[in-house]
Amino acid sequence: MSESNDNLPAETSGIVEVIPNPGMPEHHWRPTDVDPKAERRAERQVAMLFGLSMVCTVLFVVAYFTLSIGEDATVFAGFGASNVALGLTFGLALLFIGIGIIQLARKLMADHEISEMRHPAKSSDEDREVTLEALSQGLEESGLGRRPLIRNTLLGAVSLIGIPLVVGLRDLGPLPGDKLLSTIWEKDMRIVRDVTGTPILLSDLQIGDLANAQPEALFPTEENGYPELTGLEMQVGKSKASVILIRMNPDEIVPNKDRENWSVSGVVCYSKICTHVGCPISLAEQKTHHLLCPCHQSTFDLADSGRVIFGPAARALPQLPIAVDSEGYLVAQSDFTEPVGPSFWERDSS
Ligand code: FES
Repeated sequence: MSESNDNLPAETSGIVEVIPNPGMPEHHWRPTDVDPKAERRAERQVAMLFGLSMVCTVLFVVAYFTLSIGEDATVFAGFGASNVALGLTFGLALLFIGIGIIQLARKLMADHEISEMRHPAKSSDEDREVTLEALSQGLEESGLGRRPLIRNTLLGAVSLIGIPLVVGLRDLGPLPGDKLLSTIWEKDMRIVRDVTGTPILLSDLQIGDLANAQPEALFPTEENGYPELTGLEMQVGKSKASVILIRMNPDEIVPNKDRENWSVSGVVCYSKICTHVGCPISLAEQKTHHLLCPCHQSTFDLADSGRVIFGPAARALPQLPIAVDSEGYLVAQSDFTEPVGPSFWERDSS
């Protein structure tokens, strides 16, 4: 070593300092390694956990077939008993397997401590060459390179193999039939304010006003005579029939020859359900009459038949034709003329 290197750190001076091998720490044997009784106890423990998992799986199947769902479902702590039972049994079945495997590894699996030399992660050039050669030889021997027919049909088969899974999604629930084609709106049904159920007078709305509204049938009274809807019927009725009303200057409404009399003095009424994937919408911009869906930013022009002007929605917002009754209240002229909400299997895409 030259004198000039004496005060430099070993790395800078070009000298490699060899760190002595610290060796393995002292090994502590586990109780299950030295005591056969402890080993048997641990074995029983692990087997019991796996056994409990099996019991939970069986209970899951029993719960699936015995607990009813839907309107006559048993309720447990505010949730459907079926959901609670299925969630608990399946969750516990997985948990017991997990704990069992951890216990198996900690207490019973071999407890050798091993060490091995640390090599550079990158393979040597020689190894890489050998590997590449083996790969090209494999490709050559498979014949795929010189048999395009087999190669292409294999690619086709592999790319189509996921389709049965996608098609199987169709069986996830009953098809909706005609349930999505109509709502509870009908001719001369009053449009009432959401939550309070107060009928809306045309004169209640000033230019620029927006109101969230519902059909009067959802707020039955002796006076209006609508039958009371409960449970699922109520929820479905409300979710499909929710609308928004907005009043604008009548001159701003873009004429549409099929919808000449669908608005009243600049008041237009649209479904509140986005036609993309069904989020409720009510973010309106007063000046432009644009309605923005908060979920994926689809934007609809309420002055132009609910036309989509931006975003992923593929269809215009369905418009409810409205009129005014003899007492000045806003009413529907009919149900929607097309299904509301996102597209579905049996619906045409127009
Ligand atoms: S749900 Fe409205 S944009 Fe997606």
